[in-house]
Amino acid sequence: MIRVLGNPGKNTNFDTRNDLSSSDSPFLLDNETGYRHWRKIKLEHYHRFDPQKVIRISDHADLSPTTLGEMAVQLQACNFAFFEIDTAASGFSTGNFLTLGRQLGLNRFEASPGAKTDGVTLLSALESSQLQSRYIPYTNRALNWHTDGYYNPPGSRIDAFSLYCVNQAAQGGDNFLLDHEMVYLQIRDTDPDLLVALMDPGVMVVPENIHNQQVLRRAESGPVFIVDRISGRLNMRYSSRPRNIRWKTDVLSKRAVNRVRELLVDSEYIARLKLKNGQGIVCNNVLHGRNAFVDNPVDELARLYYRARYYDSVTIPDCLEADEKSINRDRSDDPAK
Ligand SMILES: [Fe+2]
Repeated sequence: MIRVLGNPGKNTNFDTRNDLSSSDSPFLLDNETGYRHWRKIKLEHYHRFDPQKVIRISDHADLSPTTLGEMAVQLQACNFAFFEIDTAASGFSTGNFLTLGRQLGLNRFEASPGAKTDGVTLLSALESSQLQSRYIPYTNRALNWHTDGYYNPPGSRIDAFSLYCVNQAAQGGDNFLLDHEMVYLQIRDTDPDLLVALMDPGVMVVPENIHNQQVLRRAESGPVFIVDRISGRLNMRYSSRPRNIRWKTDVLSKRAVNRVRELLVDSEYIARLKLKNGQGIVCNNVLHGRNAFVDNPVDELARLYYRARYYDSVTIPDCLEADEKSINRDRSDDPAK
């Protein structure tokens, strides 16, 4: 059995062989009983744990049961966890970063075009002459609310990502996060009809990405909230940048998107942290962003983050069967296979 973190089902021990989504997922709008049960537990967890807690990791290659337990409760509560590696930041390699992720069930990473090493992207502010500097993550500008890979096709959905701060910026660069399950909860409690619009496969269209008359990515349409048909888990696709999304324009869709925007301004569940050197984040692709920053002087090391994106959700293995089961998902059109 695997403990699936943030698993919406009634049990924390969840067998991935069963398809729970058709009847058991609380995120399906006709499952009011399941939703009420999940909501009660979710809020209990949220108020019992501190989202800002930083979990110390003394051995990144062999996470102790205590560390795994801390990770489990933190992710169960808010779908993200902050961590700190005891090793000096400069001694923590991209390979170490992937090793850490594997112990949390994160095996299948996206081979990002910007990745300089296998699966790990090095994020820093690049010279404007470099191609990647077209994208805000590679600048020192603010990065507004989004989920990672919101433009990916369904078979390449990003279910988790991890960040690690090698060098923090001189000023700014704080990260902010909001558990997408709490956004869902706040909307369902007040106006569940809006979720019908947000689950519509045509509610958002991500325009194609063209550079120098070359199509780098085709246009993609899809829902904001998706219930995984195998696990019953909730995934969210979203970007705050108006030029990145063409939203459906009917009245209900407009109200729904505005409601999401309102929650991103003043939700009580937003967590903020400026990562120090040696600290990181692992999460089930929650909503997140970054403040603008002023980089370090030229005679010092520039701000540098590692980033890895995964087609897996975070899972904490309870036994040796974990690796086998954590990849037991229907991704027949997954390019990572
Ligand atoms: Fe991101």
